[in-house]
Amino acid sequence: MTTIPALTVRSQVDVSSGKVPLSVRRLCDLTYLERSIHRMLCGWGNQFQGWDDKVAVCRHVWDQACIVERLRNRITQFPGVQADEPVSVELERLVNTVLCAPSFEDALDGIYQVLNTSIVNAYLDFIGEVSGIHDAPTHQIIREIVTIKDLHRRWRSEYRMRVNHTPDAVYMQRINEQLQAVGNLSSSVKVDPQHTADPVGVNTDFRPLKHRVDPTWKTYGDRDLLDWIAVDFAQSIESRQLFWAVGYMRELGLAMEQLLWLYDSHDLPWAFGLDESRHMWDESRHGDSGYARLKELGIDIGEVGFAHVRGLQRDDANHNVSQPTEPMSPTALYDVLFFICMVAETGHFRVKREAFADFREGGDMASAEMMLYDIIDETMHVQYGHQWLETLARRAGIEHEGYEKRASGLRQQKQIDADARADILRKMPDRQACPVYQNYQQLLSHLRERCPLSNARTCPPRSSKPM
Ligand SMILES: [Fe+2]
Ligand SMILES: [Fe+2]
Repeated sequence: MTTIPALTVRSQVDVSSGKVPLSVRRLCDLTYLERSIHRMLCGWGNQFQGWDDKVAVCRHVWDQACIVERLRNRITQFPGVQADEPVSVELERLVNTVLCAPSFEDALDGIYQVLNTSIVNAYLDFIGEVSGIHDAPTHQIIREIVTIKDLHRRWRSEYRMRVNHTPDAVYMQRINEQLQAVGNLSSSVKVDPQHTADPVGVNTDFRPLKHRVDPTWKTYGDRDLLDWIAVDFAQSIESRQLFWAVGYMRELGLAMEQLLWLYDSHDLPWAFGLDESRHMWDESRHGDSGYARLKELGIDIGEVGFAHVRGLQRDDANHNVSQPTEPMSPTALYDVLFFICMVAETGHFRVKREAFADFREGGDMASAEMMLYDIIDETMHVQYGHQWLETLARRAGIEHEGYEKRASGLRQQKQIDADARADILRKMPDRQACPVYQNYQQLLSHLRERCPLSNARTCPPRSSKPM
């Protein structure tokens, strides 16, 4: 734990301070820096390769969002002060320097070690200098933030023990110069009203790279395991037991995409960043729920695939080259949120509720529990869709009216397409020859041994896989 030293308390009022304590200016600087870290983690976070690290960065993005939210709430309690108060362009130079790292591993050191340490020192300074009696609410928030930062620091130390890296000396020197230019954050940085900070990254040529996936987690070929599961989905609770563990696990891939939605939506109100950070974290948690369930069931991720690449053989796959992503257009953000919230999330409630009840009935409480928590999260996600799509449509200059009807039509069409795909496979004469089908059958018999369902034979037919 970081210890909080006792420093000299100074009055936050002087002849020039007006009705706002001087310390609030410093809170605005810290909020800008915390929001910058949020954005930097969104920009770089998809480069982790290991499962636990991918999950951890999603959690850290959500932690950062909560830190920003706490600070913003406190700032707006001071009359006449906005949470988005302009800050010095020198702070922008500092965060841009950290963002534009020569490599992913350097970026981690720049963010988690150098910048975070400086920020924590600034918090400790703050609570040493500002009265803990008059400004107790800020002290309380800072103590919570410092605790979260300490967890991030410990996580980074543990990561560095696994993944060794020598920091790029020139990069570190550049960051240190920028820190010196802002007095090592020992007081608020003077703002020139004519020249204020933009969000980190917008005045750089930094682009997030395409997300990295362990190549052994990909399945290649024209057929995916889920294609065969879809054939039996409505009839077999055993197929559904396998499906939900795999389906949830793969949702971590969605969270990796959502990091980019967050990176490319800096112009939207912070409230969107907060909701979408929660949405992203939830999807990473669903991924982790599925992954944990698969492990309990004795199934390795390589057996079922984290991602499936159609029509591509393993040898053709260009696994390890990370290329910059294209900026996401406002229309693309609207479209993807519309699809996820209004089509995919809304369209899965029925099959999820059916699965929850059937797993509970069949004695697989672990799968039922996984479903239940997910249903609760998904109800919130659909609300995010209803809440934000109109704003996103306006931002993109596109039509939003009648979106619920449009979504309903799309869900119906998806069901028709999914049923047709399953029907083609159902009629395939030589399915036994398909290696993916063989794998599917092996996984089913493994599950039957490992976690048999008491209602495997008696469970009535349910809805077919919706998309
Ligand atoms: Fe989900
Ligand atoms: Fe969701």
